[in-house]
Amino acid sequence: MTKTIIEPFKIKSVEPINFSTREYREQVLREAYYNLFLLKADDVLIDLLTDSGTAAMSSKQWAALMDGDESYAGSRSFFKFEKVVKELTGLKNVIPTHQGRAAEKILFTVVGGPGKIIPNNTHFDTTRANVEFSGSTAVDLPISAALETDKYADFKGNIDLNKLEDLIKRVGADKIPLCILTVTNNSVGGQPVSMKNIRETRALLNKYNIPLFLDACRFAENAFFIKLREPGYENKSVKEIAQEMFSCTDGCTMSAKKDGLVNIGGFLALNNSAIAEKARSLLIMTEGFPTYGGLAGRDLEAMTQGLVEVLDEDYLKYRIRSIEYFGNKLLKEGVPVLVPIGGHAVFLDAKRFLPHVPSHAYPGQAIAVEMYLEGGIRSVEIGSVMFGKEVDGQFNAAQLELVRLAVPRRVYTQSHIDYAAEIIIEVYKRRAKIPGYRITYEPPYLRHFTAHFEPMAMEETHSI
Ligand code: F0G
Repeated sequence: MTKTIIEPFKIKSVEPINFSTREYREQVLREAYYNLFLLKADDVLIDLLTDSGTAAMSSKQWAALMDGDESYAGSRSFFKFEKVVKELTGLKNVIPTHQGRAAEKILFTVVGGPGKIIPNNTHFDTTRANVEFSGSTAVDLPISAALETDKYADFKGNIDLNKLEDLIKRVGADKIPLCILTVTNNSVGGQPVSMKNIRETRALLNKYNIPLFLDACRFAENAFFIKLREPGYENKSVKEIAQEMFSCTDGCTMSAKKDGLVNIGGFLALNNSAIAEKARSLLIMTEGFPTYGGLAGRDLEAMTQGLVEVLDEDYLKYRIRSIEYFGNKLLKEGVPVLVPIGGHAVFLDAKRFLPHVPSHAYPGQAIAVEMYLEGGIRSVEIGSVMFGKEVDGQFNAAQLELVRLAVPRRVYTQSHIDYAAEIIIEVYKRRAKIPGYRITYEPPYLRHFTAHFEPMAMEETHSI
């Protein structure tokens, strides 16, 4: 008989969570204009808004904090950190930053600029924003299977190599300072990229002399999927697989708030020393001296230890299995979930969940609101609230209407997940009575963070 895969840790310190009544949640949600970003975290029972910066650190990470060397220059903690990152990535220059987007900002300030094109399997929103802010164009090239939420495929995170080559031929290699692979591919459901796809991307880019970078936030989860799914990797260690992934690249940006198992931290690592020199100059202006880059010495220590722990295969087995367990519980009750289940989150397909709510009445937002009202669960809409646009009075919907339930690392137990699944199933059962939403206020950029919403009447939802 197969045994339950248990949490590979015991709990040493606990943080209470706050229970509330439905009436209370109705009130605070109204006050937050039905935008879950505007809630106080204390009013949330189970917070699945993001897996970023929300991990529980281990006793070894907490112990490592005490060993932090807070010297401004030449900190011992930096050299420990640099050694671990070089061993993992094989990249020559290691530049710490306070989080992933700081590494992106510095990289694209150096290599981006007007007229340049940056291809990616799919840009995360801050990556796209940093590319575009530099004046460059961000191009997403996911494989077409990534848009079919009900179709199983092992590596739906892959980049489409035909589209990549077409783009290079069309715009010219000189316009493309680098190509990125985001592992796992967050925006299409936390789906992994295969080693074959990484190698083939590398080979294609070699033909045109274009560097390859990884957006490596969830590199360990990606490496574990390769071990589980890709022939030839079943007997390799996850660390060897991760090293092989990085060996195909010229550099990476990293948010250690995910697979670094810390609450703050990140880095930029790359081989090209001329670019690294420019990056370090910018770093000094914006983040700090190159041996601490916006972090305390103790943060570097915790990140160094996290980068070692995340490759523990008992941890990864539990991690990937626990998200799959969550998704499978929903699938069993018929809830439309993006398959296969991703590495860091379960994604609900809001179009199939609420077929009576069209994209311009924000079905993902409607589900996210209901899950909070029903059981205090916070999730995030990844659909037309986040990516939809009004162009010349015309509504352009996002390609997918998703609700992401991202699971913080080592934070919630199986019973928290069971409860969350029960709440979602409850909401699903009464889906026919869920109304659409309209936006009553929105800022010019990144509207999902601060927009205000209002529920529509049921008749109105049906009539639009
Ligand atoms: N790249 C990817 C693929 C990400 O998912 C994120 C963050 C970043 C870059 C930026 O890193 O937050 O450290 O600056 N994703 C979070 C999320 C915020 O909720 O998915 P950061």
